[in-house]
Amino acid sequence: RKNAVITGVGGYVPETVLSNKDLETMVDTNDEWIVSRTGIRERRIVNDANVATSDLATRALMRLLEDGNVHPDEIDCVIVSTSTPDYVMVSTGSMVCEKAGLKNAWGIDTNAACSGFLYALTLGASMIESGRCKRVVVIGADKNSSIVNYKDRNTCILFGDGAGAVLLEQTEEEVGLIDSYFRTDGSGKENLIVTAGGSKYPASQETLDQKLHYVRQDGRVVFKAAIQGMTDTCREILRANDLEIKQINYLIPHQANLRIIQAVGEQLSLTEEQVKVNISRYGNTTAATIPLCLWDFKDDFKYGDKLLLTAFGAGFSWGATYLKW
Ligand code: ACO
Repeated sequence: RKNAVITGVGGYVPETVLSNKDLETMVDTNDEWIVSRTGIRERRIVNDANVATSDLATRALMRLLEDGNVHPDEIDCVIVSTSTPDYVMVSTGSMVCEKAGLKNAWGIDTNAACSGFLYALTLGASMIESGRCKRVVVIGADKNSSIVNYKDRNTCILFGDGAGAVLLEQTEEEVGLIDSYFRTDGSGKENLIVTAGGSKYPASQETLDQKLHYVRQDGRVVFKAAIQGMTDTCREILRANDLEIKQINYLIPHQANLRIIQAVGEQLSLTEEQVKVNISRYGNTTAATIPLCLWDFKDDFKYGDKLLLTAFGAGFSWGATYLKW
C-alpha cells in the first residue's frame, strides 16, 4: 500500500489582534479570568468585510506552496474543512481553487467543526492510498468572527479566525498517516451549535431576532466531553497500533482550552514537552487549530517522529490520528 505523507505545511492568521483587554471593553469579563480559565491571551480576527473563510484558506495554501516543493498545477484536489463556509451553496473548496489559480484541482468542503481537519486529513490520505490522487491539499479554515456574538461572554472569549493547510503526497516509505479512530454522536448537538442558516431553520426575521445565527454552547458539558473523548480515542489508537505513550514524540491536540489540553496530557501521562500548545496567541480557530500547530511547530518535527493528533468538536465529533512525520 502507498502511504500518504505530509510534505508541506502552511498557516495564516489575520493581522488584527483581539486581546483580552479589548474584550474587557465589550463584555463583562477580565484578562485574569480568561487566562486562568482558558489559557487564551489574544486571538486574531478578520477586520475587513471583504475577507471570507476562502481568503484565509487561500493564504494558508499560498504559504504551503512557498514551503513545499510543488507546482500549483500538480495539485489534484483541495479539501476544505470549515463550519463557516463563504456560502451555503458554492463550496469554499471551489473558491480556494479559483483564488489560488489551481488549474487541475477539484475542491470540496467537509464539516466536522473542531474535528474537521482530522476527518478531512483522513479522507485526503485515503484518496492518496487508493491511488486516486497524487497530491491532495487539506485545509482547516474558519472565520469564527462571523458566527460569534460579541455580546456573549460565554463564547466570544474563546474563538479566533485562521487557517492551516497541509500537502499530502504518496510515499513508499514507512512514514505518513498510519491510523485514525473517529466517533460521532449527534445527540451532543444541543450543547454546541449554530442553529439557523441551514435547511432546518433557514434565515428569517424570527431566526435573526432570536440570535440563532450565532454559536451557542453549554461550556461545562463540552469541557468534560472533550477531555473524555480525546483521551479515550488516543488510548484506543495506541492500543490498536501496539504503542506505548512514551513512544509518541508529540501530541498535537485541538486547541480549545488550555485546561482541556492539560487534562488530556495528564490522563495520558504525557510530559509538557510532548504536548504542543499555541492557544494563548490564537484562541480556538475550530478546524484550523491542528494545522496551525503543525505550521507553528514544524521545525521541531524530525523525519519519522510519531505524532498523535486529537480533536473534539460540535456534533459531537471526536477522534485521534496517528502519523509518522
Ligand atoms: N468572564 C468572566 N466570567 C465568566 C465568563 C467570562 N468570559 N464566562 C463565564 N463566566 C462566569 C460564569 O457566569 C460563572 O459565574 P457563576 O459561578 O457566578 O455562575 C463562572 O464564570 C464560572 O463559569 P463556568 O461556565 O463554570 O466556567 P468554566 O470554568 O467551565 O469555563 C469555559 C467556561 C471557558 C467556556 C469552559 O467551560 C470551556 O472552555 N468549555 C469548553 C467549550 C469549548 O471549548 N467550546 C468551543 C468549541 S468545542 C471544542 O473546541 C472542544
